[in-house]
Amino acid sequence: MIIILDFGSQTSQLIARRLREAQVYCRLFPWDTPAEELLALEPLGLILSGGPASVYEAGAPFIQPALLESGLPILGICYGMQALTHALGGQVAASAQREFGPAILATSAPNPLLPAGEQPVWMSHGDRIETPPPGFHPIAASANAPIAAMSDEPGKRFGVQFHPEVHHTPGGPEILRRFAVEICAAPPSWTPAAIIDESVAAIRQQVGSERVLAALSGGVDSSVAAALVQKAIGDQLIAVFIDNGLLREGERSAVVQSLRDGLGVELITVDAAEDFLSALAGVSDPEQKRIIIGERFIRHFEEQAQALGQPRFLVQGTIYPDVIESRAPERQAAQRIKSHHNVGGLPEDMDFSLVEPLRFLFKDEVRQVGIELGLPETAVWRQPFPGPGLAVRCLGAITPERLARLRAADAIFTAELEAAGLLNCLDAEIAQAFAVLLPVRSVGVMGDQRTYEETIALRAVASQDYMTADWARLPHELLARVSSRIVNEVSGVNRVVYDLSSKPPATIEWE
Ligand code: XMP
Repeated sequence: MIIILDFGSQTSQLIARRLREAQVYCRLFPWDTPAEELLALEPLGLILSGGPASVYEAGAPFIQPALLESGLPILGICYGMQALTHALGGQVAASAQREFGPAILATSAPNPLLPAGEQPVWMSHGDRIETPPPGFHPIAASANAPIAAMSDEPGKRFGVQFHPEVHHTPGGPEILRRFAVEICAAPPSWTPAAIIDESVAAIRQQVGSERVLAALSGGVDSSVAAALVQKAIGDQLIAVFIDNGLLREGERSAVVQSLRDGLGVELITVDAAEDFLSALAGVSDPEQKRIIIGERFIRHFEEQAQALGQPRFLVQGTIYPDVIESRAPERQAAQRIKSHHNVGGLPEDMDFSLVEPLRFLFKDEVRQVGIELGLPETAVWRQPFPGPGLAVRCLGAITPERLARLRAADAIFTAELEAAGLLNCLDAEIAQAFAVLLPVRSVGVMGDQRTYEETIALRAVASQDYMTADWARLPHELLARVSSRIVNEVSGVNRVVYDLSSKPPATIEWE
């Protein structure tokens, strides 16, 4: 395993993703995680991430001496390189010019990390290295950083001022791979099959012969988590799927088909639509809707758990980015924008031990594992769907009629996008797309009749991480077809609009 120490950069997670893409197992820890704890994991090398601080600031993050003394190979990136330099007696100085953006890196000495010649890289730094520490030599330069990379080859210690993990450094993945596989000798053996074998063994060991409960949402994470647990312990697993009446068209049958029929998971579906809809009757306020749905979900879930004799274990589809984010409070939005409700979320007062088989996996790994386990591609490439479901896309009061209208429009839009190869597939350009029903009526004409009906807004975004998103530039012909189909096929709708807002300032969902 390679350990990445997080010095606070926005792109630390990307370092981990690049290594995982090279099939090298790695984990990300806050920089001040006690050295003994880290060394006990027997890592093969350390990567120090970038970060916003300056090494001379009071309280600046530093490299723990025990890590330097461990003799492990080290790669310092940006701030990590500066911290390495500072700790080992080199000199870091504020550069007269901040370097931010693309730069050309010229390798100046043969070395095992960087290829010969020039390559585009992404820089983002104020401070820079003036004098490398004793034993280190410059190996590359850029216009504003004469020591843009340095190495102490015998000690297997390296520093790069640029960010190899970002998209704008096209040769970056290879640099990270060389460090991990060639310099640290980390085996590139982190494949879906290996992940499954390891998880299966860990799950069996954790739960023994106890019964385990899983809550399915229809989403990728909860399905793959359940499938993994099923593979490990078979019919000790019971999955519960609560149909809250706020699902998309065909969603319930897709879950039943992929998990019960496909994988043989013992699945209980709970018909709770009436209960959810009556609790939501007349409620238009978005936060109120979310709170009501969260409470109802817990109630139904508790009921099921009780009826099943309170299994001791609960499966959660927590994935690695959630784990990393929850450890880095400074990166979480200070202000609550929306009360998130995660189906499968643990009711606070319920006493379960958690089984979290995806805890160290990134989303793309979760998908690969899902495919390897035999889940259908359509289940694995599904776009995310919020816990509160269509409730937060049916603006205004929720009624069965309005939900049916929304569901029909949404099915048309997503089916057209899928047919065009833009959604729910590998390399899909669109991360998320859906219809929103607006409580806005406008005048139209159909045949010779005046109509006065509601409006559908179409939302489609491109996004890497759902923290930011850009509205998708969809082909006009496709939009025309979707619009005409919706107005013709969905009763109660006479107007379709397209949402041209990015996140921020808008959010992806309308509520
Ligand atoms: P926003 O609307 O905040 O959404 O830009 C970002 C992403 O999160 C999804 N989302 C949710 N997911 N429970 C979830 O599990 C929720 O309550 C929830 N609200 C929003 C949203 O669909 C988008 O992918």
